[in-house]
Amino acid sequence: MGRAGGMSARLLRWYDAYARVLPWRERPGQMPGQIPGANRADPYRVWLSEVMLQQTTVAAVIPYFERFTQRWPTVAALAAADEGEVMAAWAGLGYYARARNLVACAKAVAGRPGDGAGVFPDSEAGLRALPGLGAYTAAAVAAIAFGQRAVVVDANVERVVARLFAIATPLPAGKAEIRAATDTLTPDLRAGDFAQGMMDLGATVCTTRAPACLLCPLAKDCAAHAQGDETAYPVKARKAPKPERRGRAFWITRGGEGQQEVWLVRRPARGMLGGMLALPDDGWSAKGDGGSVRGDGVAPLPGPWHVAGAVAHVFTHFSLRLELAVYSPVDSPVDLGADWDSLPGDAEAGGGRWWPLARLAEAGLPTLYAKAARLVWPQ
Ligand code: ADE
Repeated sequence: MGRAGGMSARLLRWYDAYARVLPWRERPGQMPGQIPGANRADPYRVWLSEVMLQQTTVAAVIPYFERFTQRWPTVAALAAADEGEVMAAWAGLGYYARARNLVACAKAVAGRPGDGAGVFPDSEAGLRALPGLGAYTAAAVAAIAFGQRAVVVDANVERVVARLFAIATPLPAGKAEIRAATDTLTPDLRAGDFAQGMMDLGATVCTTRAPACLLCPLAKDCAAHAQGDETAYPVKARKAPKPERRGRAFWITRGGEGQQEVWLVRRPARGMLGGMLALPDDGWSAKGDGGSVRGDGVAPLPGPWHVAGAVAHVFTHFSLRLELAVYSPVDSPVDLGADWDSLPGDAEAGGGRWWPLARLAEAGLPTLYAKAARLVWPQ
């Protein structure tokens, strides 16, 4: 066995002993009829978990995963789901385009011809051809659910491999080298277990700030460890600061004590937080010519308004400071419906609706607006 073979064998033995128990996994060695030693898991659950895990940590994903799979236990069930309900169940995970792609992908799987209907393709290339399914997810599902040999590199694997080989090329340029090195380590059998073992090692032992090298099955193979400087890898290129945008959201309520309602709008299907229910705002999400963008501050109704506070939120490409302006007339507004739909920028959105404040949690507001709402309405 070559050096790479020895490393992957050690890693697999470690995984057999220490694999994290996670709801989308089969336990090592528990699936009957498997290729020697390899674990398989339900492709739907693997796919769903991988899409969710691209957003956040394992700990944060688990409750979302449990809720999704209880409500939509199969890919066919998700294909038939109401998109608004899926978006609401996704709220808090961020990056809503993924929730829309999720339903599109489920529909594509459910609609595959003949015996393929409702069955995920079992090859990396077949998976890659599904809508919204990127190179990473295709490799992960092919390896973990179907036992195919595929090279799976997520942020944890990237860190482990950069350290094992002391790869000094800064990310993102170093990604190609890291991938090639991962390829040399990936075994022909049990590629899925290998990938998940590397992920677990990265998450629990080879951590970003405080790697526990004494517990690591690969410490004697690790070039960064030999240098005594594990945390120097992966080397990262300095990031340009994110541009900052500013905007204003509007809190408009009506009704007496216990019967209060708040005015919510549905955002246009395309664009930031597309298709989600939201507080009305002044268009902070409009793209400027680069640099800072300021919402125009224009309120949907003549005042009086008062600013209740502001929340900060970081998106992939910019950070946002969103003020919350509260409508505070002497008499509450009677009906906004028609006026609202004709406001600039809201035309292609689904208009607005009064929503009972007592049931605000059920609106599935994106985190940004939920944070803003908390400034005035404890939830
Ligand atoms: N991160 C991404 N995919 C994962 C998986 N299958 N197991 C653990 N962590 C992960």
